[in-house]
Parts: sequence; structure tokens; C-alpha cells
Amino acid sequence: MSTENSLLAISGLTVSFGGLRALSDVHLEVKPGEVVGLIGPNGAGKTTAFNAICGLVKPDTGELFLDGHKHAWPQPHHLSELGIARTLQGVGLFGDLTVLENVMLGAQKFSHSGLISAALGRTGKDEKVLRERAQTALERVYATGIADRRADTLSYPDTKRVAIARALVSEPKILMLDEPAGGLGQQDIEWMNSLIRNLTAQMSVLIVEHHMDVVMTVCDRLYVLNFGEVISSGTADIVRRDPAVIAAYLGASKVNS
Ligand SMILES: Nc1ncnc2c1ncn2[C@@H]1O[C@H](COP(=O)(O)OP(=O)(O)OP(=O)(O)O)[C@@H](O)[C@H]1O
Ligand SMILES: [Mg+2]
Repeated sequence: MSTENSLLAISGLTVSFGGLRALSDVHLEVKPGEVVGLIGPNGAGKTTAFNAICGLVKPDTGELFLDGHKHAWPQPHHLSELGIARTLQGVGLFGDLTVLENVMLGAQKFSHSGLISAALGRTGKDEKVLRERAQTALERVYATGIADRRADTLSYPDTKRVAIARALVSEPKILMLDEPAGGLGQQDIEWMNSLIRNLTAQMSVLIVEHHMDVVMTVCDRLYVLNFGEVISSGTADIVRRDPAVIAAYLGASKVNS
């Protein structure tokens, strides 16, 4: 696999949990400005692949390339320095903080004086810059009107917007979204689609998603995992006609569209 033009690439990624092999020899790459989808039935290994890239699980084997150069698998606290941000499957906001405060917490790399104090306590330059960045991130997810609300009072679609804003505030080169449309209704799925496409001027997006209409609409290319292996890759049109993909989804009785 050539990784020269990639922002991020993984090659030969294998991850085991005890006797269970969750990923086997997985490869994928994300180029500048691309939206790349990672899809597959439940338990296929999608979140595990994200976790490996983010340093939350340790690979048995495999290599990571950033900007075409081999890089050690990151520690989670180094991700923002490397230009990588992710949202979690599930949302993970702090309910007793405001929306703006939650978003400010995503801006760790811009803080010189400690995350919590800089983000939430002190006045001063750091705090002002963080606040402005958080406001900008909220604008990008069309959520400025809810900046002062406590996070535990938000509707579910609004929590999804805020989770993305929190990832955007670190100004990543690669945004990793785990099921951004999970639990959303049709109208909210449409704004999510347009939001994701609008991000590509500034960053690449790697997305795990079960909703096929989202995946087919927003992704430039897809990788399909089944039982931990990449069984197909290419444009949405190629992948959706691939007999191996159809068989995997029929076998899992799981096609959400
Ligand atoms: N921490 C863990 N310990 C043990 N097994 C795990 C762990 N995390 C994941 N697994 C197993 O690894 C396999 C892949 O799981 P993973 O969560 O990556 O799948 P997924 O494709 O994200 O599924 P879903 O679509 O349901 O989110 C599954 O068999 C799962 O049970
Ligand atoms: Mg998952």
C-alpha cells in the first residue's frame, strides 16, 4: 500500500482480546479532504479500529502512518497534537456543565495552564481564546443558540451536535466520528450529512456509521469490515454492489437504510 499521499494510513493492523481476534491484517487510508467510511455488521471491529488509532487498545501488530511517515501508535493524550480528534460511540458530555464549557474542554492543546482551570475557572488570554474557539465550533454545527444551556437539558440531536463541536475545537486534520447519526431521525440525519460534507474544506473525516443513507451520501470511499477483516473497499457504488458485502450484511440481517 502506498501511503505517500495519505493523511492517515494503517497497515497490517491485528488486534486480539484474549482468544478473540477482533481485527486481522486491516489496512485503510485517508487522504486530505476525504470522507472515508468504515462500515460492517455489529461486532465487525469498527470501534476497535478507531480505538487502535486513538491509542485505546494496543495492536498485536500493524503500522500507522501520518502524513506518509511511519508513526508509533499514539497515546490518547497525544491525539490532538497529532491533529486527530474523535467523538465517542455514545456522547459523553458532562451534564452539569454548559454546552460552551463542554466544547471548551475539547481544546486541550490550546491551553498552556492546565485543562480544567484554563477552560473553566480563570479569566485571561487562554480562557478568552478557548471561549472564542468554542463559539466558532458551535457555529459550525449550527448550535450557537444553545451555548449557555446545561448539557443535561439538551435534546438527543443537540447532544450529537455538541459532541462534534467539542471535537472540532482542537482544529483537527482528521476527525473520527463513531456513529454520528446513531439515534437521529430523518431530518437530523440530513443536517448531519451536510455538516460532515462541509467539514472537508478544513479536514478529512473517518466515519463509522450503520445508517447506509448517511454512508452512501457523505463518503468518498468506504472500507467494509466483517469479522475483523476488510472484505471490500472503494466508492459507495462499488461497495454496495460487491457480492461479499451483500452476503455479509444479509448474513448479519442488518441493513439500516
Ligand atoms: N475491550 C474488549 N474486550 C473484549 N472483547 C472486545 C472488546 N472490545 C471489543 N470486543 C470484541 O471485539 C469484536 C469487535 O467489536 P467492536 O466493538 O470493534 O465492533 P463494532 O464493529 O464497533 O460493532 P458495533 O457496530 O456493534 O458498534 C466484538 O466481538 C467485540 O465483542
Ligand atoms: Mg462500534
